[in-house]
Amino acid sequence: MKALVLSGGKGTRLKPLTNTMAKQLLPVANKPILFYVLDQVMEAGITDIGIIISPETGEWVKQAVGNGSRWNTEITYIRQDEPLGLAHAVKTAKDFLDDSPFLMFLGDNLIHGGVKSFVDEFRKHKPDALVLLKEVADPRLFGVAELDKSGKIVRLVEKPKEPKSNLALVGVYLFTPEIHRAIDQIKPSWRGELEITDAIQKLFDMGNDIRSHILQGWWLDTGKKDDLLEANRVVLDDLLQRSIRGEVDSKSQLHGRVEIGEGTKVENSIIRGPVSIAEKCLIKDSHISPFTSIASGSRIECSYIEHSVILDDCRVCNIERLSDSIIGRNTEVIKHEGGIRAVQLFIGDDARVEL
Ligand code: TTP
Repeated sequence: MKALVLSGGKGTRLKPLTNTMAKQLLPVANKPILFYVLDQVMEAGITDIGIIISPETGEWVKQAVGNGSRWNTEITYIRQDEPLGLAHAVKTAKDFLDDSPFLMFLGDNLIHGGVKSFVDEFRKHKPDALVLLKEVADPRLFGVAELDKSGKIVRLVEKPKEPKSNLALVGVYLFTPEIHRAIDQIKPSWRGELEITDAIQKLFDMGNDIRSHILQGWWLDTGKKDDLLEANRVVLDDLLQRSIRGEVDSKSQLHGRVEIGEGTKVENSIIRGPVSIAEKCLIKDSHISPFTSIASGSRIECSYIEHSVILDDCRVCNIERLSDSIIGRNTEVIKHEGGIRAVQLFIGDDARVEL
């Protein structure tokens, strides 16, 4: 059994962060999303892993994941020249996948409790495909499955205008090599992509056995700003353990599950968990509230931060209340004491400022 992790794509909805970073490397609780995916693939007992990369962000993915030694495995990188759809990614990986059954996992998706049980179910029952479904509030945004009364899939539609169910296809799929024959028979959709939903529908029309499993735990698709904040909140809430490896002075208070990395100093500050602060940060005269992650090398001074993700090497100074924010690497957010009451900005393309 092999695994195909999709880490290409454009990441348009996460600009400007994705101008300089692969979206799958954005951190959730200070760990790249792609690392959770690779952990879960390994946990499922699959060691032959191919990662789809794009020409724009592929080098960053390669740099972060390397040769796979962190997971004690070898990684094969597969370049997809254009993001022409999830089924196109499978087509691009045909040589790597060969005649093997495989787990396909979107590199920006997180699944509660991992995927081992689904991989085991697939291995045991040997259907031609096994798809994961999750009840969602607005199915129009997803690939949607229609089931009959016995719970068997009867139809799959990509982003339907009038959905017949609220069961979305989660970004984890298990396939036999039959999927290649189905993909060979589909045409690009109205948005110009070879849709995996259409390929699974074709597989079904060809008379193949398709099983589904409705996911009970959380499924986090980190494609947009609010999704990423929500993923950070859920993962901190569910998985964070208290661990203090930095220095905390006697004037500071840490409440609940707080993670402080090595070389980080906390001075005269209050931190209320769940909060993750990585290595070599300075938190001074500040208040860090729940569901905040601060990446390495950042300095927070005289500020209040809640429900936010601060990336590496940032400086936040004199901000009375920073909330629901994602701040890209090496960024300064500063309010000058006694300065003129004007907003002075020096920000890059595609940024968004809410005042
Ligand atoms: P999407 O989030 O659907 O696409 P995207 O990354 O291009 O994002 P946006 O719509 O904001 O521009 O992709 C889901 C995952 O699959 C993500 O990890 C990127 C990956 N992907 C590929 O590897 N190849 C592709 O052709 C596509 C469409 C996505």
